Amino acid sequence: MELKIYRCRICGETYLGYEAPENCPFCGAHKEFLQAPELYDRSIDSVAITEVERADLEASIELERSNTRFYLGMAQRRDNDTLRSTYKRLAKIEMEHCELFCRLAGVSLPEDLSEPGETTGSWATDIEESLRRENRASALYATFAERATNERLKEVWAAVSAVEADHITLDELAKQYL
Ligand SMILES: [Fe+2]
Ligand SMILES: [Fe+2]
Repeated sequence: MELKIYRCRICGETYLGYEAPENCPFCGAHKEFLQAPELYDRSIDSVAITEVERADLEASIELERSNTRFYLGMAQRRDNDTLRSTYKRLAKIEMEHCELFCRLAGVSLPEDLSEPGETTGSWATDIEESLRRENRASALYATFAERATNERLKEVWAAVSAVEADHITLDELAKQYL
């Protein structure tokens, strides 16, 4: 087996490994988006956007900002290391989504993106809150993908919608570690 370079078509990050993983370790995009690096063109994210797409990108940035901060808040709790580590990883994935949406919108990152936010106060209620957030994100991005006219934006919103649907499964799994 030989070490290979894979480039994620959704977030643009590079994965080094023997085989493509099932999901991009950075943004969670599914395996089909992990490609040979020569197929990736950074200019893919320089898109001309409509007013509706701009508003939807702004809503996406705000959603990812809020979810990143919520998960960073969860990851500050010290009484369950499995859950702390899991939600720290989730915060990093949502941060990657936020960076991607900012790049597509041509705006800078929210200043408070890496500051832990308020949580509901316990693992059990935070996981319920996370389920609410992930359901909302997955549905919203499916709507944005549907109404976008730009092909790249359609692709990104559909891919990230699928990632947020995976996070619903992750929350259900996390309950086993309470
Ligand atoms: Fe990715
Ligand atoms: Fe998510």
